Amino acid sequence: MNRAHALQGISWPDFDRLEIGERAPYFQRDGRQYHALISQQFDRAFLDRMCELATRTRKIAKTRGGMLFLQGLLAEKRAMLYFAQPSTRTFLSFLSACQILGLQSGEVRDSKTSSEVKGESPEDTVRIFSSYYDLIIMRYPEGGFGDRIAWLLSNTDRPVPVINAGSGKDQHPTQALLDIYTLQRSFEAIGGIEGKKIAFVGDLARGRTVRSLAYLLTRYPGVKLYFVAPEQLQIGEDILASLDEYGVSYEVTDTLTPILPEMDAVYMTRIQDEWDTAGESRSIGIDEYIIDADRLQHMKETAVILHPLPRRNEIAVEVDSDPRAMYWRQVRNGMWIRAALILHIFERDAEVDRYFDDLMR
Ligand code: NCD
Repeated sequence: MNRAHALQGISWPDFDRLEIGERAPYFQRDGRQYHALISQQFDRAFLDRMCELATRTRKIAKTRGGMLFLQGLLAEKRAMLYFAQPSTRTFLSFLSACQILGLQSGEVRDSKTSSEVKGESPEDTVRIFSSYYDLIIMRYPEGGFGDRIAWLLSNTDRPVPVINAGSGKDQHPTQALLDIYTLQRSFEAIGGIEGKKIAFVGDLARGRTVRSLAYLLTRYPGVKLYFVAPEQLQIGEDILASLDEYGVSYEVTDTLTPILPEMDAVYMTRIQDEWDTAGESRSIGIDEYIIDADRLQHMKETAVILHPLPRRNEIAVEVDSDPRAMYWRQVRNGMWIRAALILHIFERDAEVDRYFDDLMR
């Protein structure tokens, strides 16, 4: 069957020249999301749909019959997990999502074990994956590589969808989906994400999760964002420019103490010193960018604390048992929202809706 891939209509040089936001429509097939590479692809309707589908899937999975139904949905498909950078949660949550939906999976987690050491280009390596697998889930140290692969594969006779599981310092769109899902569930009883005050704390210069999530929050009217970091680790101007474009209000500050009592959500991050060239992060004071028992006392009762994990000492272990700590739930939410995304890409979501409606009847 010939399906219309938007990326088939454009040459690589023309596509490569596009701004990030302009690329979004090219990741579709027949008007539906096909590759999932950048947050800019996801509008509000899509986010609401992914949250709904994730919740339906998790409810169906509660019974043995439901789980067997889910495991049949994509039993004819195989997924390649290509993780050229370290990962625990993202890898395992995608693997679990595949297992829930019955996809078989293969993995390359270390480029040293692939033919790249024989001089094969990364492009050829991924193209080989597409000969064996029907979906490529990919974490890669360089931003933009996924876009290149998506273009390349869409222009072969075996196009397969590509999901970005973290690209350089640039984007982590499925982490942003699970963060949105967690915020939405956390604020369900208090009016949803709209109008909430959300602080991002820590290494905002190199944290790709913050960049992808800040972008998705432009989809929620009335939110106000606070970027709390030492000057050297502040959020990129490109993200602030996007917020300006969407009329989202924000503050950029280096102190958490004065704003903390007003915050509805605090999104903590670790210092990403693996990107240092000469250990420069070591000289940056980070004591202001932590949450501990003392700080908890200054937070709203209804506030929530998120963290993409892994953490170091920016959230004290004593915070873990506080009901406002949402980071463990984020981990589990990630599995369900990634299952939802895979269902959407393979167009099996309507079957989940039908099963769910029968269940509720
Ligand atoms: C994050 C990442 O890889 O960007 N981890 C994750 O996927 N949950 C954050 C980090 O590494 O600090």
